[in-house]
Amino acid sequence: MPTQPRLLTPVRAGALHATNRIWMAPLTRSRARMPGNIPHDLNALYYLQRAASEGGAGLIISEATPISPRAHGYYATPGIHTDAQVAGWKHITDTLHARDPNNLIVLQLWHVGRVSNTALQPGNAPPLGPTNVPSRSKTYIDPSMVRVDNSTPRALRTEEIPEIVEEFRAAALRAKAAGFDGVEIHGANTYLLDQFTRDGMNLRTDIYGGSLANRLRFPLAVAAAVSDAFGPDRVGYRISPLSEHHDARDSNPAETFSELAKQLGALGLAYLHAVETWNRTELDPRIHSTIPQIAEAFKNASPRGIYVANGDYSPEQAEHALSQGWADAIAFGRPLISNPDLAHRIAQAAPSQPKLTPWDQSTFYGITCGKDGSKGYTDYPAAE
Ligand SMILES: Cc1cc2nc3c(=O)[nH]c(=O)nc-3n(C[C@H](O)[C@H](O)[C@H](O)COP(=O)(O)O)c2cc1C
Repeated sequence: MPTQPRLLTPVRAGALHATNRIWMAPLTRSRARMPGNIPHDLNALYYLQRAASEGGAGLIISEATPISPRAHGYYATPGIHTDAQVAGWKHITDTLHARDPNNLIVLQLWHVGRVSNTALQPGNAPPLGPTNVPSRSKTYIDPSMVRVDNSTPRALRTEEIPEIVEEFRAAALRAKAAGFDGVEIHGANTYLLDQFTRDGMNLRTDIYGGSLANRLRFPLAVAAAVSDAFGPDRVGYRISPLSEHHDARDSNPAETFSELAKQLGALGLAYLHAVETWNRTELDPRIHSTIPQIAEAFKNASPRGIYVANGDYSPEQAEHALSQGWADAIAFGRPLISNPDLAHRIAQAAPSQPKLTPWDQSTFYGITCGKDGSKGYTDYPAAE
């Protein structure tokens, strides 16, 4: 590692000027105040601990945040569809910006689609999906955090899809009112937009299924509406082209996601963000051809847009990826759970590797970790 790691240099994504290239990946922590799925003081402390001013991330991407009551798929995730939720988030963004106006935080906009249980849906209705095929994954529906099966979804009617596009637009406007610096559209990990994108899951026969152009129609309509609401230069989009999470399948991820990336670039989005893997020791060999092709398709179409890479990066691997031109910034997830001041640790240790605190998986999710959810959340110390 050189004495001034590239990770610690500024980067500009559209209108977002990040003071370093260590970005915080979106992390669901299930610690919203219940009932109401409301962000609160404990969440503000958690995000502040990880902000750039505290030696943390140059840009924080919030935990995935349901855009509407139907968009929820897990217990105690904070939403952005009620006034109380907007006020809760406003307190968080105000806390970060009051500490330092250069602190950046964007909201990840989420619709889970078929990955949900009737217990989490208004009127105990079935979750919504591209088809009525259930997700074989599990979720949690109460504070016990016991995993239960996802329910069989109801296939969205053609005329309902523009309504969900409008829900995304309204959520982006609420995120703006809540003081966020931008938004990230959650198009990854086999939630609703990804369910429409992939040919192994989208078996529809209307204008939202079949050909690649049809499968991208809904995700691109969302990207256009959100860009219109917030300004494209403050919008990012997350994909996970090689993931098989929640039994996702696509017959040609390089083609599917390059076309999506190109179209997102043409809209002038600030950044494209990809979950490349969760485990670098078992790397999918397709990564070496697929990811550069997708990143290039985006950047060719959006010359001011940047590519943000994520997935089991150590600081050393991240530095290497930046120096090779593989990515413009690296999003860290689990390392920032247990090392809130990750950038500070890297700066202190350079040119050798920083000493990192390991994360505790048992406290990833849950409002009952400790008495109030603080265990494994706000109690990881900064370095001496
Ligand atoms: C506890 C936890 C919660 C997560 N929540 C989200 C989420 O809300 N949205 C999302 O896009 N990815 C989510 N992910 C995936 C991470 O953003 C990231 O892709 C993954 O952890 C791999 O990156 P890492 O090796 O740096 O942790 C989550 C991962 C973990 C461990």
